[in-house]
Amino acid sequence: ALERTFSIIKPDATARNLTGKINAMIEAAGLRIVAQKRVRLSKAAAEGFYAVHSERPFFNDLVSFMISGPVVVQVLEGENAIAKYREVMGATNPENAAEGTIRKTFAESIEANSVHGSDAPETAAQEIHYFFSDLEIVG
Ligand code: CMP
Repeated sequence: ALERTFSIIKPDATARNLTGKINAMIEAAGLRIVAQKRVRLSKAAAEGFYAVHSERPFFNDLVSFMISGPVVVQVLEGENAIAKYREVMGATNPENAAEGTIRKTFAESIEANSVHGSDAPETAAQEIHYFFSDLEIVG
């Protein structure tokens, strides 16, 4: 089915000027970037976005990392976009990511892992609307 998923290009990747290279990998996989903006997350915005992880031991470090520099938030559209983008990203821990994936190619660590992507349709819709109104998404 035609789906939309939510993506973040994280501060480790924007710091190394990798937005274009990551976007090229997204587009090469057949996903369309139908919304995109570069933002600096506030602490409250990062905490809210990652609220599901608030009890995890890595939560405070994750929030600090996500506000350490600009991020690029995106909506990606395509056939099976949620699963397809997870394939393009590779495993959360770059040590476990397959060759040719974004995280294998660019990620520095499990925390500085260059990109985020939604894990299911419900979280995709929720994450998209955390950052974008429907008027900002142009399919
Ligand atoms: P992301 O897909 O953005 O979702 C939560 C993030 O927490 C994850 O990618 C990682 O960057 C980060 N993280 C840091 N440590 C861990 C860990 N031990 N397990 C899972 N995620 C972690």
